[in-house]
Amino acid sequence: MDIRIHNVGGYITQNYLLETPLGWIAIDTGYSGGEKKFLQRLSRLCRPEDLKYIFLTHSHDDHAGFLAALLEAVPAKVILHPAALPCLEAGENAEPAGSGYATRMGALFGLVKKSFTFPPVHLGDRAVFVEKEDDQFFEELGLPLRIVFLPGHTADSIGLFLPQTGQLFCGDAAMNAVISLGRHTIWIDNVSEFQRSWDKMIALKPVRIYPSHGTPFSPKDLLKYRRFMDGRPVIQPNNQPNKR
Ligand SMILES: [Fe+2]
Repeated sequence: MDIRIHNVGGYITQNYLLETPLGWIAIDTGYSGGEKKFLQRLSRLCRPEDLKYIFLTHSHDDHAGFLAALLEAVPAKVILHPAALPCLEAGENAEPAGSGYATRMGALFGLVKKSFTFPPVHLGDRAVFVEKEDDQFFEELGLPLRIVFLPGHTADSIGLFLPQTGQLFCGDAAMNAVISLGRHTIWIDNVSEFQRSWDKMIALKPVRIYPSHGTPFSPKDLLKYRRFMDGRPVIQPNNQPNKR
């Protein structure tokens, strides 16, 4: 079964669209206010009503920021981990104990950015929760798209693996942006879980990793940087007025 990949993303967050025989799937949204540009770009490819699903890799402001606005324009259901719900309804990134920035550069970004809130999202019957990894919503529909739990960046982090092509959309389980080092996401909720998720991604033997920030990269980099956080404590976001 053919699944075509499109990218209508902005400068910061990639917005991948999967064109499938059962309709279109968006992976994440982006920062609040980005809906107009997203819908313009989407409309060059399909009708808004063709967007059947939004796969939310996790509930951060740069991924769920215009989710509420987008849901008013398209009929899509949202596929997500249940742990995303409190953050979506609060419109605020989580900051669990032990979380922090992976690098000084990441901490600097946090100091500059300060606010990590977004318009709250109330999904109601638009939500399709992936409670456990056996809940393979897309495979049950007959689509070759495997949902993979990738906690660590956040507790609700999930990715999407295409076994036919080896493409892995990892959300923020890894990052290839200018401000990230060693393919590591600048913010990590739980380092050991994050590293276990890297082991899981390596074991999948993907051909190409598609992060939400930055360009796709080789899975060899996961092996190369797997130990990047060993002995490197996360940097607490001290004195920040808003949670991230
Ligand atoms: Fe994130």
